[in-house]
Amino acid sequence: MLELTVNGVVRTADVEPEMPLLWVLRDHLGLTGAKYGCGISICGACTVLVDGEPVRSCGFPASAAAGRKIVTIEGLSAQGLHRVQTAWIEHEVPQCGYCQTGMIMSAVALLAKHPKPTDGQIDDAMSNLCRCGTYARVRKAIHGLAGSPAAGDAGAAPERADAPPAPASGQA
Ligand code: FES
Repeated sequence: MLELTVNGVVRTADVEPEMPLLWVLRDHLGLTGAKYGCGISICGACTVLVDGEPVRSCGFPASAAAGRKIVTIEGLSAQGLHRVQTAWIEHEVPQCGYCQTGMIMSAVALLAKHPKPTDGQIDDAMSNLCRCGTYARVRKAIHGLAGSPAAGDAGAAPERADAPPAPASGQA
């Protein structure tokens, strides 16, 4: 039995320790915000934060996250209105949207480290792939957030402390 702290709540899952964190989150804990993309830790659709650092959860053993603070997109804001999400709406960043959970989680981690990131820092941090080519709008939205209050960012207590939804079968 694996014990994980996800979005401020201690959760247990009866899984093999080497199971990728993505599948524990999606299939065992019902948190389907992080997406399966390439499956080889490249595209970043599965990005979540572990102790404030963005990780590709499709290639990250769940046991490596035990005892650490995991934040998924569901943990940013109960209403989906974390400041990065709001900026994404304002700048109409998403197109198909599939990659955007990972983009947002990477941006949250970036802004926690660099409140006013340079283009170079954005390029280094935002290695997520977007087949719709939203990169210019991602950069614009991040620049728009530069220097704004960082409450609820990676490393801070998540805004959402309520229990996550009941485990879902299948994938969203
Ligand atoms: Fe479609 Fe990025 S918005 S893959």
